[in-house]
Amino acid sequence: MHYKSCQWVNRGIEFRTDEIRICCYGYLQGRETEYQTTLFSDYHGGKIDWDKFFEIKHQLKQMHKEGKYLDACKNCIYLYENDWDDDDYINHLTFNHWTKCNCACTYCYTNNDKKAYNQFKEYKIYPIIKDMFKKGLIKNLESSCLCFGGGEPTILDDFDKLIDIFLKHGSKNIRINTSGIKYSKSIEKSLKLGAMSIVISLDAGCRETYEKIKQVKCYDKVWDNIRKYIKCQKEPNLVKVKFILIPKVNDSYEEINKWFDEVVKNGVKAVSLSVEQDWFNTNQPNFPDDIYEKISYMEQKAKELNLDMEIYCEALAVLRDGKKNPS
Ligand SMILES: C[S@@+](CC[C@H](N)C(=O)[O-])C[C@H]1O[C@@H](n2cnc3c(N)ncnc32)[C@H](O)[C@@H]1O
Ligand code: SF4
Ligand code: SF4
Repeated sequence: MHYKSCQWVNRGIEFRTDEIRICCYGYLQGRETEYQTTLFSDYHGGKIDWDKFFEIKHQLKQMHKEGKYLDACKNCIYLYENDWDDDDYINHLTFNHWTKCNCACTYCYTNNDKKAYNQFKEYKIYPIIKDMFKKGLIKNLESSCLCFGGGEPTILDDFDKLIDIFLKHGSKNIRINTSGIKYSKSIEKSLKLGAMSIVISLDAGCRETYEKIKQVKCYDKVWDNIRKYIKCQKEPNLVKVKFILIPKVNDSYEEINKWFDEVVKNGVKAVSLSVEQDWFNTNQPNFPDDIYEKISYMEQKAKELNLDMEIYCEALAVLRDGKKNPS
Protein backbone atom coordinates (compact mmCIF):
# COMPACT_ATOMS: atom_id res chain seq x y z
CA MET A 1 0.00 0.00 0.00
CA HIS A 2 1.19 3.52 -0.81
CA TYR A 3 1.57 5.87 2.18
CA LYS A 4 4.07 8.01 4.08
CA SER A 5 6.14 5.98 6.50
CA CYS A 6 9.76 5.20 7.32
CA GLN A 7 12.07 2.21 7.02
CA TRP A 8 12.48 2.08 10.80
CA VAL A 9 8.79 1.70 11.67
CA ASN A 10 8.54 -0.97 8.99
CA ARG A 11 11.83 -2.83 9.43
CA GLY A 12 13.86 -1.25 12.18
CA ILE A 13 15.24 -2.00 15.62
CA GLU A 14 17.68 -0.15 17.85
CA PHE A 15 19.46 -1.98 20.66
CA ARG A 16 20.29 0.41 23.49
CA THR A 17 22.03 -0.16 26.82
CA ASP A 18 18.71 -0.59 28.63
CA GLU A 19 15.95 -0.45 26.00
CA ILE A 20 14.85 -1.53 22.56
CA ARG A 21 13.62 1.26 20.33
CA ILE A 22 12.28 1.55 16.79
CA CYS A 23 15.16 3.79 15.73
CA CYS A 24 17.76 6.14 17.17
CA TYR A 25 16.26 9.30 15.64
CA GLY A 26 13.45 10.14 18.08
CA TYR A 27 15.62 12.86 19.69
CA LEU A 28 15.59 14.89 16.44
CA GLN A 29 12.06 16.15 17.21
CA GLY A 30 13.07 16.98 20.81
CA ARG A 31 14.20 15.13 23.92
CA GLU A 32 10.70 15.37 25.51
CA THR A 33 9.05 12.97 23.06
CA GLU A 34 11.87 10.62 22.06
CA TYR A 35 10.68 8.04 24.65
CA GLN A 36 7.74 7.37 22.28
CA THR A 37 10.06 5.40 20.00
CA THR A 38 10.73 2.89 22.81
CA LEU A 39 9.35 -0.60 22.15
CA PHE A 40 10.64 -2.35 25.28
CA SER A 41 11.96 -0.42 28.25
CA ASP A 42 14.16 -2.06 30.89
CA TYR A 43 15.73 -4.45 28.38
CA HIS A 44 19.11 -5.87 29.35
CA GLY A 45 19.60 -8.67 26.85
CA GLY A 46 18.08 -12.10 26.42
CA LYS A 47 14.70 -13.19 25.12
CA ILE A 48 12.58 -10.77 23.10
CA ASP A 49 8.81 -11.13 22.75
CA TRP A 50 8.69 -10.98 18.95
CA ASP A 51 4.88 -11.35 18.77
CA LYS A 52 4.54 -8.24 20.88
CA PHE A 53 7.32 -6.52 18.91
CA PHE A 54 5.49 -6.97 15.58
CA GLU A 55 2.11 -6.22 17.14
CA ILE A 56 3.40 -2.75 18.15
CA LYS A 57 4.86 -2.33 14.66
CA HIS A 58 1.46 -3.20 13.12
CA GLN A 59 -0.18 -0.50 15.24
CA LEU A 60 2.40 2.08 14.20
CA LYS A 61 2.06 1.13 10.53
CA GLN A 62 -1.72 1.39 10.80
CA MET A 63 -1.30 4.93 12.19
CA HIS A 64 0.89 5.85 9.22
CA LYS A 65 -1.66 4.40 6.79
CA GLU A 66 -4.20 6.76 8.37
CA GLY A 67 -1.80 9.70 8.12
CA LYS A 68 -1.24 9.80 11.91
CA TYR A 69 2.20 10.03 13.49
CA LEU A 70 3.74 9.98 16.96
CA ASP A 71 4.96 13.41 18.11
CA ALA A 72 8.46 11.94 18.00
CA CYS A 73 7.95 11.18 14.29
CA LYS A 74 6.08 14.22 13.03
CA ASN A 75 8.38 16.16 10.67
CA CYS A 76 11.00 13.41 10.77
CA ILE A 77 13.28 13.59 7.72
CA TYR A 78 13.14 9.79 7.39
CA LEU A 79 9.43 9.75 6.50
CA TYR A 80 8.64 9.39 2.81
CA GLU A 81 5.94 8.20 0.41
CA ASN A 82 6.45 4.62 -0.70
CA ASP A 83 4.72 1.34 -1.49
CA TRP A 84 5.18 -0.39 1.87
CA ASP A 85 4.64 -4.14 2.24
CA ASP A 86 2.98 -5.74 5.26
CA ASP A 87 5.61 -8.42 5.86
CA ASP A 88 7.12 -8.84 9.30
CA TYR A 89 10.89 -8.71 9.10
CA ILE A 90 13.86 -6.62 10.16
CA ASN A 91 16.69 -5.28 8.06
CA HIS A 92 17.46 -1.91 9.65
CA LEU A 93 19.48 -2.39 12.82
CA THR A 94 21.30 0.06 15.05
CA PHE A 95 23.67 -1.12 17.76
CA ASN A 96 23.95 1.29 20.65
CA HIS A 97 24.01 -1.19 23.51
CA TRP A 98 27.45 -0.46 24.97
CA THR A 99 29.43 2.60 26.04
CA LYS A 100 33.02 1.42 26.48
CA CYS A 101 35.49 3.46 24.40
CA ASN A 102 39.22 3.97 23.80
CA CYS A 103 38.83 7.71 23.42
CA ALA A 104 37.46 10.53 25.61
CA CYS A 105 35.92 13.19 23.38
CA THR A 106 34.96 16.24 25.42
CA TYR A 107 31.62 16.52 23.58
CA CYS A 108 30.59 12.89 24.12
CA TYR A 109 27.82 12.13 26.62
CA THR A 110 30.12 9.47 28.14
CA ASN A 111 32.47 12.24 29.22
CA ASN A 112 30.13 13.04 32.15
CA ASP A 113 31.34 9.91 33.92
CA LYS A 114 33.98 8.22 31.78
CA LYS A 115 34.91 5.62 34.40
CA ALA A 116 31.34 4.39 34.82
CA TYR A 117 30.69 4.28 31.06
CA ASN A 118 33.95 2.39 30.45
CA GLN A 119 33.15 -0.14 33.17
CA PHE A 120 29.53 -0.63 32.09
CA LYS A 121 29.08 -4.29 31.17
CA GLU A 122 26.98 -4.59 28.05
CA TYR A 123 24.71 -7.53 27.29
CA LYS A 124 25.84 -10.00 24.63
CA ILE A 125 24.33 -9.09 21.29
CA TYR A 126 25.73 -11.89 19.13
CA PRO A 127 23.42 -14.67 20.49
CA ILE A 128 20.42 -12.37 19.94
CA ILE A 129 21.36 -11.75 16.30
CA LYS A 130 22.16 -15.41 15.71
CA ASP A 131 18.73 -16.33 17.08
CA MET A 132 17.05 -13.69 14.91
CA PHE A 133 18.68 -15.18 11.80
CA LYS A 134 17.64 -18.67 12.91
CA LYS A 135 14.04 -17.50 13.33
CA GLY A 136 14.14 -15.86 9.88
CA LEU A 137 13.45 -12.41 11.36
CA ILE A 138 16.33 -10.68 9.58
CA LYS A 139 15.75 -10.67 5.82
CA ASN A 140 16.40 -8.78 2.60
CA LEU A 141 19.88 -7.73 3.58
CA GLU A 142 20.59 -6.33 0.09
CA SER A 143 18.45 -3.33 1.02
CA SER A 144 19.44 -3.24 4.66
CA CYS A 145 21.03 -0.67 6.89
CA LEU A 146 23.21 -1.67 9.82
CA CYS A 147 24.65 1.02 11.99
CA PHE A 148 27.13 0.76 14.85
CA GLY A 149 27.12 3.71 17.24
CA GLY A 150 28.15 2.93 20.77
CA GLY A 151 30.80 3.11 22.44
CA GLU A 152 33.70 2.13 20.27
CA PRO A 153 32.70 -0.80 18.02
CA THR A 154 36.19 -2.17 17.39
CA ILE A 155 36.72 -2.92 21.10
CA LEU A 156 33.36 -4.68 21.46
CA ASP A 157 33.91 -8.39 22.31
CA ASP A 158 31.32 -9.55 19.76
CA PHE A 159 32.39 -7.19 16.97
CA ASP A 160 34.23 -9.63 14.66
CA LYS A 161 31.60 -12.36 15.05
CA LEU A 162 28.80 -9.86 14.40
CA ILE A 163 30.38 -8.50 11.23
CA ASP A 164 31.04 -12.03 10.07
CA ILE A 165 27.44 -13.23 10.50
CA PHE A 166 26.07 -10.20 8.65
CA LEU A 167 28.59 -10.57 5.81
CA LYS A 168 27.74 -14.28 5.53
CA HIS A 169 24.06 -13.38 5.15
CA GLY A 170 24.77 -10.85 2.40
CA SER A 171 24.83 -7.51 4.21
CA LYS A 172 26.02 -4.75 1.91
CA ASN A 173 25.42 -1.60 3.89
CA ILE A 174 27.13 -1.70 7.27
CA ARG A 175 27.97 1.67 8.72
CA ILE A 176 30.52 2.00 11.49
CA ASN A 177 31.29 5.07 13.55
CA THR A 178 34.75 4.49 14.93
CA SER A 179 37.40 6.46 16.77
CA GLY A 180 39.93 4.90 14.33
CA ILE A 181 42.34 4.18 17.18
CA LYS A 182 42.22 0.38 16.95
CA TYR A 183 42.81 -1.09 13.49
CA SER A 184 40.22 -3.76 12.68
CA LYS A 185 40.73 -6.66 10.27
CA SER A 186 36.93 -7.07 10.08
CA ILE A 187 36.61 -3.50 8.86
CA GLU A 188 39.43 -4.11 6.38
CA LYS A 189 37.69 -7.22 5.03
CA SER A 190 34.31 -5.46 4.74
CA LEU A 191 35.83 -2.42 3.01
CA LYS A 192 37.48 -4.74 0.49
CA LEU A 193 34.10 -6.32 -0.20
CA GLY A 194 32.46 -2.91 -0.47
CA ALA A 195 29.99 -3.98 2.23
CA MET A 196 30.84 -1.32 4.80
CA SER A 197 31.42 2.39 5.16
CA ILE A 198 33.18 3.89 8.14
CA VAL A 199 33.14 7.35 9.66
CA ILE A 200 36.09 8.57 11.69
CA SER A 201 35.56 11.86 13.45
CA LEU A 202 38.87 13.75 13.56
CA ASP A 203 37.31 17.14 14.42
CA ALA A 204 40.68 18.80 14.11
CA GLY A 205 43.25 19.91 11.58
CA CYS A 206 46.24 19.41 13.85
CA ARG A 207 47.53 17.24 16.70
CA GLU A 208 47.10 19.94 19.34
CA THR A 209 43.37 20.46 18.73
CA TYR A 210 42.80 16.71 18.34
CA GLU A 211 44.35 16.05 21.75
CA LYS A 212 42.38 18.88 23.34
CA ILE A 213 39.08 17.44 22.08
CA LYS A 214 39.78 13.71 22.17
CA GLN A 215 41.94 13.68 25.32
CA VAL A 216 44.14 10.88 23.93
CA LYS A 217 47.46 11.10 22.11
CA CYS A 218 46.45 9.15 19.01
CA TYR A 219 46.42 11.70 16.19
CA ASP A 220 49.17 10.05 14.12
CA LYS A 221 47.92 6.54 14.79
CA VAL A 222 44.42 7.44 13.59
CA TRP A 223 45.78 8.97 10.38
CA ASP A 224 47.94 5.83 9.85
CA ASN A 225 44.81 3.69 10.19
CA ILE A 226 42.79 5.95 7.88
CA ARG A 227 45.48 5.56 5.20
CA LYS A 228 45.46 1.76 5.67
CA TYR A 229 41.65 1.62 5.42
CA ILE A 230 41.67 3.83 2.31
CA LYS A 231 44.05 1.43 0.58
CA CYS A 232 41.57 -1.44 0.86
CA GLN A 233 38.24 0.30 0.21
CA LYS A 234 36.41 -1.00 -2.85
CA GLU A 235 34.83 2.40 -3.63
CA PRO A 236 36.44 5.80 -2.97
CA ASN A 237 33.69 7.01 -0.62
CA LEU A 238 33.64 4.19 1.92
CA VAL A 239 36.10 5.79 4.33
CA LYS A 240 34.74 9.10 5.57
CA VAL A 241 36.62 11.54 7.75
CA LYS A 242 34.37 13.74 9.85
CA PHE A 243 34.51 17.20 11.36
CA ILE A 244 32.11 18.07 14.15
CA LEU A 245 32.10 21.83 14.27
CA ILE A 246 32.29 22.82 17.94
CA PRO A 247 31.79 26.56 18.30
CA LYS A 248 34.65 28.27 20.19
CA VAL A 249 36.71 25.05 20.21
CA ASN A 250 37.62 24.08 16.62
CA ASP A 251 35.67 26.57 14.49
CA SER A 252 38.45 28.87 13.30
CA TYR A 253 38.95 29.07 9.52
CA GLU A 254 42.59 28.17 10.16
CA GLU A 255 41.60 24.87 11.84
CA ILE A 256 39.00 24.09 9.19
CA ASN A 257 41.47 24.72 6.36
CA LYS A 258 44.14 22.58 8.03
CA TRP A 259 41.62 19.73 8.33
CA PHE A 260 40.85 20.02 4.61
CA ASP A 261 44.62 20.05 3.87
CA GLU A 262 45.14 16.82 5.85
CA VAL A 263 42.13 15.20 4.18
CA VAL A 264 43.48 15.93 0.71
CA LYS A 265 47.10 15.12 1.60
CA ASN A 266 46.11 11.68 2.92
CA GLY A 267 44.01 10.74 -0.10
CA VAL A 268 40.59 10.87 1.59
CA LYS A 269 37.78 11.26 -0.95
CA ALA A 270 34.73 11.45 1.34
CA VAL A 271 34.04 13.64 4.35
CA SER A 272 31.25 14.21 6.87
CA LEU A 273 30.21 17.46 8.46
CA SER A 274 28.32 17.83 11.70
CA VAL A 275 27.77 20.39 14.40
CA GLU A 276 27.99 19.68 18.12
CA GLN A 277 24.61 18.46 19.36
CA ASP A 278 24.38 20.27 22.72
CA TRP A 279 25.26 23.54 21.01
CA PHE A 280 22.67 22.75 18.34
CA ASN A 281 19.92 22.02 20.89
CA THR A 282 20.70 25.18 22.87
CA ASN A 283 20.80 27.46 19.82
CA GLN A 284 18.07 26.18 17.52
CA PRO A 285 16.33 27.72 15.62
CA ASN A 286 18.30 30.99 15.91
CA PHE A 287 21.78 30.03 14.82
CA PRO A 288 24.49 32.70 14.83
CA ASP A 289 25.50 33.96 11.38
CA ASP A 290 29.16 33.05 11.78
CA ILE A 291 28.39 29.33 12.25
CA TYR A 292 26.05 29.40 9.27
CA GLU A 293 28.85 30.99 7.25
CA LYS A 294 31.43 28.45 8.40
CA ILE A 295 29.20 25.49 7.53
CA SER A 296 28.44 27.06 4.13
CA TYR A 297 32.17 27.60 3.64
CA MET A 298 32.93 23.95 4.38
CA GLU A 299 30.20 22.78 2.03
CA GLN A 300 31.58 25.00 -0.75
CA LYS A 301 35.19 24.01 -0.10
CA ALA A 302 34.35 20.29 -0.26
CA LYS A 303 32.77 20.92 -3.68
CA GLU A 304 35.84 22.79 -4.91
CA LEU A 305 38.11 19.97 -3.71
CA ASN A 306 35.90 17.36 -5.34
CA LEU A 307 35.19 15.67 -2.04
CA ASP A 308 32.03 13.71 -1.49
CA MET A 309 30.50 15.44 1.56
CA GLU A 310 27.68 14.11 3.73
CA ILE A 311 26.11 16.74 5.95
CA TYR A 312 24.41 15.59 9.17
CA CYS A 313 20.88 16.77 9.84
CA GLU A 314 21.94 19.23 12.58
CA ALA A 315 24.36 21.00 10.22
CA LEU A 316 21.71 20.88 7.47
CA ALA A 317 19.27 22.60 9.82
CA VAL A 318 21.81 25.40 10.42
CA LEU A 319 22.15 25.83 6.64
CA ARG A 320 18.37 25.80 6.17
CA ASP A 321 17.49 28.18 9.05
CA GLY A 322 20.49 30.44 8.42
CA LYS A 323 19.27 30.94 4.86
CA LYS A 324 15.80 31.94 6.09
CA ASN A 325 17.19 34.94 7.99
CA PRO A 326 20.30 36.08 6.14
CA SER A 327 22.00 39.02 7.86
C1 LIG B 1 28.66 8.22 20.23
S1 LIG B 1 29.68 7.93 18.84
C2 LIG B 1 30.12 6.28 18.99
C3 LIG B 1 30.96 5.68 17.90
C4 LIG B 1 32.42 5.95 17.89
N1 LIG B 1 33.04 5.77 19.14
C5 LIG B 1 32.72 7.30 17.31
O1 LIG B 1 32.85 8.27 18.04
O2 LIG B 1 32.80 7.38 16.09
C6 LIG B 1 28.59 7.95 17.45
C7 LIG B 1 28.70 9.19 16.62
O3 LIG B 1 28.17 10.31 17.33
C8 LIG B 1 29.01 11.42 17.15
N2 LIG B 1 28.87 12.28 18.32
C9 LIG B 1 29.09 11.94 19.62
N3 LIG B 1 28.84 12.99 20.43
C10 LIG B 1 28.44 14.02 19.64
C11 LIG B 1 28.03 15.35 19.88
N4 LIG B 1 27.98 15.86 21.12
N5 LIG B 1 27.70 16.12 18.83
C12 LIG B 1 27.75 15.64 17.57
N6 LIG B 1 28.12 14.37 17.27
C13 LIG B 1 28.46 13.57 18.28
C14 LIG B 1 30.40 10.83 16.97
O4 LIG B 1 31.25 11.66 16.23
C15 LIG B 1 30.12 9.56 16.22
O5 LIG B 1 30.18 9.79 14.82
S1 SF4 C 1 9.64 8.63 11.63
FE1 SF4 C 1 11.74 9.09 12.25
S2 SF4 C 1 11.71 9.09 14.49
FE2 SF4 C 1 9.85 8.06 13.81
S3 SF4 C 1 10.39 5.88 13.76
FE3 SF4 C 1 10.75 6.69 11.71
S4 SF4 C 1 12.93 7.26 11.68
FE4 SF4 C 1 12.30 7.02 13.82
S1 SF4 D 1 35.07 8.07 20.20
FE1 SF4 D 1 32.81 8.03 20.16
S2 SF4 D 1 32.12 6.94 22.00
FE2 SF4 D 1 34.30 7.43 22.23
S3 SF4 D 1 34.31 9.30 23.41
FE3 SF4 D 1 34.38 9.88 21.25
S4 SF4 D 1 32.24 10.15 20.59
FE4 SF4 D 1 32.23 9.05 22.57
